[in-house]
Amino acid sequence: MKRTKVTDALLRTDFGADILVNGWVRSKRGSKGIFFIALNDGSTIKNIQIVGDEANFDADMLKQITTGACLAVTGKLVESPAAGQASEIQATQIEVLGTCGADYPMQKKGQTFEYMRQHAHMRLRTNTFGAVMRIRHNMAMAIHTYFHEHGYFYFHTPLITASDCEGAGQMFQVTTKNLYDLKKDENGSIIYSDDFFGKQASLTVSGQLEGELGATALGAIYTFGPTFRAENSNTPRHLAEFWMVEPEACFIDLNDLMDLEEDFIKYCVRWALDHCKDDLEFLNKMIDKGLIERLEGVLKETFVRLSYTEGIEILQKAIAEGKKQFEFPCNWGDDLASEHERYLVEEYFQKPVIMTHYPKKIKAFYMKIDEQKPVYNGEEMEETVQGTDVLFPQIGEIIGGSVREENYDKLVNEIETRGIPMKDMWWYLDTRRFGSCPHGGFGLGFERLILFITGMANIRDVIPFPRTPKNAEF
Ligand code: 4AD
Ligand code: MG
Repeated sequence: MKRTKVTDALLRTDFGADILVNGWVRSKRGSKGIFFIALNDGSTIKNIQIVGDEANFDADMLKQITTGACLAVTGKLVESPAAGQASEIQATQIEVLGTCGADYPMQKKGQTFEYMRQHAHMRLRTNTFGAVMRIRHNMAMAIHTYFHEHGYFYFHTPLITASDCEGAGQMFQVTTKNLYDLKKDENGSIIYSDDFFGKQASLTVSGQLEGELGATALGAIYTFGPTFRAENSNTPRHLAEFWMVEPEACFIDLNDLMDLEEDFIKYCVRWALDHCKDDLEFLNKMIDKGLIERLEGVLKETFVRLSYTEGIEILQKAIAEGKKQFEFPCNWGDDLASEHERYLVEEYFQKPVIMTHYPKKIKAFYMKIDEQKPVYNGEEMEETVQGTDVLFPQIGEIIGGSVREENYDKLVNEIETRGIPMKDMWWYLDTRRFGSCPHGGFGLGFERLILFITGMANIRDVIPFPRTPKNAEF
């Protein structure tokens, strides 16, 4: 007989039909010679109930039906007398495909997330992680569908690269060299000419630079893949390996970019509400009671659009009026700390904020320089750039993007003053030499989106196998 997935079995109404389901035992109980098994096959958060008369089955086989065991159950689909489920299966035959010992790490309910992380290879079988992983899949589908429908081509940028897009020096090196026997020149620098790539190579921190090459040929592209950052940040928002979706489009300005960011995020949220109802209801009940309301709320809000200078004014006013104390300073020119972003998003506006026009010196080299310098406290400040950070409640920065500097001379000047090795950038600069065009894009941290959609608190719990400082297990 052909197997029916539990998600499909639960929708069937052809009661009396023969059916075969496979899955793992979530729980088993018995009463007056009748056994009840809750079986889950991962296709849905819901279990299907298996009912049988103990007298009709081999006693040794029944003993093997423990939590976590894998079964093939044949029986009749029947209307369920129990509340909360339309159908159940009256078992006629049960085969134990895989037994499961009492040392099964997901045996007990209500384990801490820390415990689950130590057993990340088995935590996927729990309700919570099943829900998160199904939502993760659905969000990936939403991303591809959105960009495909909006005329963006899926463009594959390399994971191994020789350039540091963000210039933050957080790259993991890729080498086949024997690290115990490195050749060095007279200055003590490592000689890479005989390494695999003939030069120093690393894992990419962002696909943007190659993405720009794609966009300036195809008009609009998006990359969606893993990115790597060797930043030693042990926070609930940082991973050393995370997924990023990066659209890049030509002939757009700052307003178009912000419209795209807002429309795209709302599309993803709506997709989750439309496609992940059962999983969201579970998470809303078990993890975060305000989750669904918050997701629906985001759809109704118009995101605030605020310049960095206006943001600083609000923060300084809050300090001056004694409404708020911050640990870190936030004078004009300072990079905002997450406490500042959270104040603006969670307390002051109470909705998502798109912040723009940051001081040039706190942002990456490729951002377009504003024509006008901002005025703050009656004084003209330093140059700003057309960068956009989308700040979300609970999450902080979910998107970082910008309009790109398309002027060759300005871009070269920026590269030189920042001391970025020019010889590595020739191919990037060629886009500004041959038919340069206005363009821009952004990067959305996929796991940060999943945090927001699921209401989970720690980024380590929204990716199957997290990579963080001192942790690369599984
Ligand atoms: O702001 P970032 O550094 O921007 C870029 O990399 C640009 N090159 C993107 C572009 O314009 N194409 O990173 C983009 C987003 C952040 O807003 C954040 O959501 C996420 O990537 N991110 C991280 N997510 C998890 N762990 C980390 N260590 C992250 N660093 C950034
Ligand atoms: Mg950023």
